Amino acid sequence: MSVRYGFVYLDKIDMKIAMMMAMDRNKLVGREGDMPWKIPSDLQYFKRTTMGKPLVMGRVTFESLGGVLPGRPHIVITRDQNWQHDGVDTAHTLADALAIAGQYATDEIMIIGGASVCAEAMPLVERLYLTVIDHEFHGDRWLDSFDWQQWSVDTEENIDETEQGGYKFTYYVLDANRHESLHAT
Ligand SMILES: NC(=O)c1ccc[n+]([C@@H]2O[C@H](COP(=O)([O-])OP(=O)(O)OC[C@H]3O[C@@H](n4cnc5c(N)ncnc54)[C@H](OP(=O)(O)O)[C@@H]3O)[C@@H](O)[C@H]2O)c1
Repeated sequence: MSVRYGFVYLDKIDMKIAMMMAMDRNKLVGREGDMPWKIPSDLQYFKRTTMGKPLVMGRVTFESLGGVLPGRPHIVITRDQNWQHDGVDTAHTLADALAIAGQYATDEIMIIGGASVCAEAMPLVERLYLTVIDHEFHGDRWLDSFDWQQWSVDTEENIDETEQGGYKFTYYVLDANRHESLHAT
C-alpha cells in the first residue's frame, strides 16, 4: 500500500514518523508563544530522545527555541516565502517538510509542535512521545488533536518532583492504533 500525502508518498520515507510533545491534564501545550512550564528534566528527556533526528516544527515553535538546537537537523514550516534562518531547512507545507526530513538518514522523523502542526500531522504519526504533567496551567494552545482512544501505551515512566517543588508527570511512549502501517509492503 502506498499512502499519498500532498505530493509525498509516505512509503518512500523510510523512517518512522514520530511526534514529541508535553501537555498538562487539559491537553494544554503553549502560552504566548512559549511553554507554560519550565521542567528541566523534561527538556533533558527531549534532548536525549531527539538527538541526531530531524526535527519538523512550525515557525512559532522555532522562534520559541531561541536558536538552532545542536546535533539535530531543523525543518521549519512557514507560509512566508521569504523566511529563512541559518542552519535551518525551510518548508512551505507539512508534506514538503516530511520529504526533506526523509532525506536525513535516521530511524525517526520527530515532529515537535506546535499545536497547529500537530493538528495537521497527527493522523500520520506512528509513535508519540508524550509527557503528561499532572497539573493545570494557564495558556492558549492545546493538543486537541490528541485522543487517547487512538493510541496504545508502549511504555510509561512516572516521575515525581513534588518534593523538589516541581510536578508529577509521566513519560508515555505511545503507538498509533492503526490496522495498516503507513509503510505496509
Ligand atoms: N508543550 C510542548 O511540547 C510544545 C511543543 C512545541 C511548541 N509548544 C508551544 O506551542 C505554541 C506554538 O504553537 P502554534 O500552533 O501557535 O504554532 P506552530 O505550530 O509552532 O507554528 C505555526 C506556524 O507554522 C507555520 N505553519 C503551520 N502549519 C503550516 C502549513 N500547513 N503550511 C505552511 N506553514 C504552516 C505558520 O508559520 P508562518 O506564520 O510563518 O506562516 C504558522 O503560523 C507555543 O506556545 C509553543 O511554546 C509546546
